[in-house]
Amino acid sequence: MSLPTIRLGVNVDHVATIRQARGSDYPDPVLAALCAVEAGADGVTVHLREDRRHIQERDVRLLAQRLRKSDGNGDRWRVPLNLEMAVTDDMLALAEAVRPPRCCLVPEKREELTTEGGLDVAGNLERVRKAVQRLNAIDARTSLFIDPDADQLDATLETGAPAIEIHTGHYANASGDLAATMVEEIADFARQAAAAGLEVHAGHGLHFDNVGPIAAIPEIVELNIGHFLIAQSIFDGIGPTVQAMHAAMRNARGT
Ligand code: PXP
Repeated sequence: MSLPTIRLGVNVDHVATIRQARGSDYPDPVLAALCAVEAGADGVTVHLREDRRHIQERDVRLLAQRLRKSDGNGDRWRVPLNLEMAVTDDMLALAEAVRPPRCCLVPEKREELTTEGGLDVAGNLERVRKAVQRLNAIDARTSLFIDPDADQLDATLETGAPAIEIHTGHYANASGDLAATMVEEIADFARQAAAAGLEVHAGHGLHFDNVGPIAAIPEIVELNIGHFLIAQSIFDGIGPTVQAMHAAMRNARGT
């Protein structure tokens, strides 16, 4: 039986990291996103952090403009824009203004180098539930970025979110038997989440050498990948890099 195809969401945050390092107006993450889409990316992801260390509001608004294909029947998108965001009033207001078709709720700490763990949905149930309601009201399909943890899954189901993104960062930092055990845990968790009716995505820390076992999990239908793709693009260009990642994912899945 053939598996459902798996989508690649390309996160262009780190194109903006290079731009912000010099306060220049290049390289433009919007242009990088359009090149990725041209090469077959199935979605574009950006994380507008509270400290604005990489992506800026201008990037989010312009990306939405460039990816949206408005016609008489409302918005359609060339590929979906996925806005990663903290659960704050400011970010919810921005999402309501921009109306991205996908949002991913993530935890955020000012001092962290990158998102270090999943969202504590269980510990912030009311706040997350209200955020999901606001995003449902603008027809944004919301995923919650969570660790593979049963309590977080139960809490997610209470929020009304239609999707999760499984945090693969700990797997990406592991090797050998530990990494193999983590793949099993992620696969079990993905099965439970899909059986409960959630759409299952995954991401964080994935690259050519570790993406295979995650892409091969049948219930996972989308991966969001950023840092490695942008880094590899220095050598190969963004189009060939996106295509090579797509090929690695499909190969692992046998599709
Ligand atoms: N998914 C989420 C929710 C993230 O926060 C990030 C990092 O911004 C990613 C995926 C992509 O992680 P990486 O840049 O390590 O590929």
